[in-house]
Amino acid sequence: MTIREIQEEILRLKKEKDFCILAHAYQGQEILEIADYTGDSYGLSVQASKAPHQNIIMCGVRFMAETCKVLSPEKTVYLANPIAGCPMAEQLDLETLEILKEQHPDHAVVAYINTTSELKTACDVCVTSSSAVQICKALDADKILFIPDPNLGHYVQSQVPEKEFAFYRGGCPRHFIMTEADVKKAKAAHPDALFLVHPECRPEVTAHADYIGSTTGIMAYAKKSDAKEFIIGTENSIVQHLQFECPEKKFYPLSVMLTCMNMKATTLMDVYNVLRGIGGEKMELPDDVMKGARRCIDEMIRLGG
Ligand code: 13P
Ligand code: SF4
Repeated sequence: MTIREIQEEILRLKKEKDFCILAHAYQGQEILEIADYTGDSYGLSVQASKAPHQNIIMCGVRFMAETCKVLSPEKTVYLANPIAGCPMAEQLDLETLEILKEQHPDHAVVAYINTTSELKTACDVCVTSSSAVQICKALDADKILFIPDPNLGHYVQSQVPEKEFAFYRGGCPRHFIMTEADVKKAKAAHPDALFLVHPECRPEVTAHADYIGSTTGIMAYAKKSDAKEFIIGTENSIVQHLQFECPEKKFYPLSVMLTCMNMKATTLMDVYNVLRGIGGEKMELPDDVMKGARRCIDEMIRLGG
């Protein structure tokens, strides 16, 4: 089958079987084209809970499918490719978190949404890259243990100087390896380009940014801007999508290393196989995990809107 034939079959089957397809912005263009909704991790889960469909396919990574299930317990949620995990979400377990909490007894625990649902049950609130500053400001606590990403944490700390922060030494293995040397090299090659970067990059990288924000924030900024050239400091799919949406502008990757193999694990055939009933993973979470993670996510919605 050709890509176009598979896409047509997917569109036919999803209508026939009442499926909604969600695609994170880090997915390939061929998947974005067959999705009902595209966007950032949290935005997708909200869309899923509002959608009238009974069945959801998440083209993204495991924590996103879990968030989706927690927000839509009555729906059947599939992770399109079960091997697509997020290394950052899986680097901190409950046992280690309990040790951290003992070391920081008077701190509120703020978790990035890139964590497992099980871990969220032991946190006070979770945040997205776009809502982290607002939520940490609004939180009724002067001391914050921010997990697992210290880069996002340091960025939030710079915007909320009135509070005291402690960090876990985790982070996204893709964004983490970007260095100041990568920025200097990209800027030397494209001296007129603006530099847009995700806060999962290190402070030495974000220090050079014209804009720091989530995937959705970066895309919105580039589309609105009068500038004609941009260096993109996040997963390289964003370079591709922006180039499709703004053919009159130019987009350059900060580095070829900014490719998330987990996000790239999902293929059109995976989506097709879920619809044919021969692929994907149906998300099942224990009741106590659903309840505990929901409390953490509801607190994020209450504080962040
Ligand atoms: P968003 O929260 O912007 O969707 O980003 C998710 C992610 O995995 C960033 O690396
Ligand atoms: Fe996880 Fe990083 Fe991939 Fe995002 S880019 S899904 S944080 S490993």
